[in-house]
Amino acid sequence: MIIDAAPTSLKGKTALVTGANGGIGKATAEHFSKLGARVLATDIGHKFNGDCEATYLQIDLGTKNGLQLTKKWIEKETPQILFNNAAIFDMGSILEASIEQMEKIFSVNVKAMYYLMQSCSNSLLKNKKKGSIINLSSQAGHRGESLVAHYCASKAAVISYTQSAALALAPYNIRVNAISPGVVDTPMWKTVDKLFAKFEGKKIGQKKKEVGEAVPLGYMAQPNDIARVAVFLASEQSNYITAQTINVDGGSVLRM
Ligand SMILES: NC(=O)c1ccc[n+]([C@@H]2O[C@H](COP(=O)([O-])OP(=O)(O)OC[C@H]3O[C@@H](n4cnc5c(N)ncnc54)[C@H](O)[C@@H]3O)[C@@H](O)[C@H]2O)c1
Repeated sequence: MIIDAAPTSLKGKTALVTGANGGIGKATAEHFSKLGARVLATDIGHKFNGDCEATYLQIDLGTKNGLQLTKKWIEKETPQILFNNAAIFDMGSILEASIEQMEKIFSVNVKAMYYLMQSCSNSLLKNKKKGSIINLSSQAGHRGESLVAHYCASKAAVISYTQSAALALAPYNIRVNAISPGVVDTPMWKTVDKLFAKFEGKKIGQKKKEVGEAVPLGYMAQPNDIARVAVFLASEQSNYITAQTINVDGGSVLRM
């Protein structure tokens, strides 16, 4: 029997990681680098905090200038892997979540995600290269939550754009998939926990504890749990997978 095991190695590939200083972004940048990829990392802070080699650009993806800078970078480097991960979280129901909050969330979570995906695919096409684009959705993208109107909608949009892009780009061998984490222990949870404390009158730390215990596996994911799936989607191991949203949620999908 011949076992046609495709390589997990990312040698020879360039990977662009957005939100590279965050929990999931940092872990994924490190995984990509350790598996041989040349990493282009970007975030809003002054320098890259990851434990790996990376070329870093400080960019605010919520601005027009930031998007144009990233596009130029993409055109110069033509990354074959795009880890479209930067996002912000905020809370509010339909009764109070403002249009300003919507614009802020959508500018990073949807507009920047779309713009980078478009820039990256055009660059790959121009250079006749295949690629793998990985967008970060969320379990929040599968159903609305009364207090999380805009964030949930932004993550649902990520799933939809992933599907449309995957179908449009399949003839060019550019795969597009999304990862949909459940709850992951990252710096974002400081904000999430504080907001739930405010909106639901909980003690600080209570929401985080509750959501971890509610996962069928019994605990929150660590960033590395997501990074390993990112490696799979970025590598040849997944070369027949496109247009999918992979739940990495410890089984929470069945409790939604
Ligand atoms: N942590 C979770 O429980 C969870 C669950 C589901 C989905 N997700 C998704 O996973 C992804 C990563 O989340 P995380 O938990 O690692 O969050 P995080 O807050 O740790 O990291 C997000 C990173 O994005 C960066 N960022 C935010 N706004 C930016 C901007 N305008 N320009 C450039 N960079 C910006 C932040 O500086 C931060 O480093 C996000 O898309 C998030 O929505 C997270």
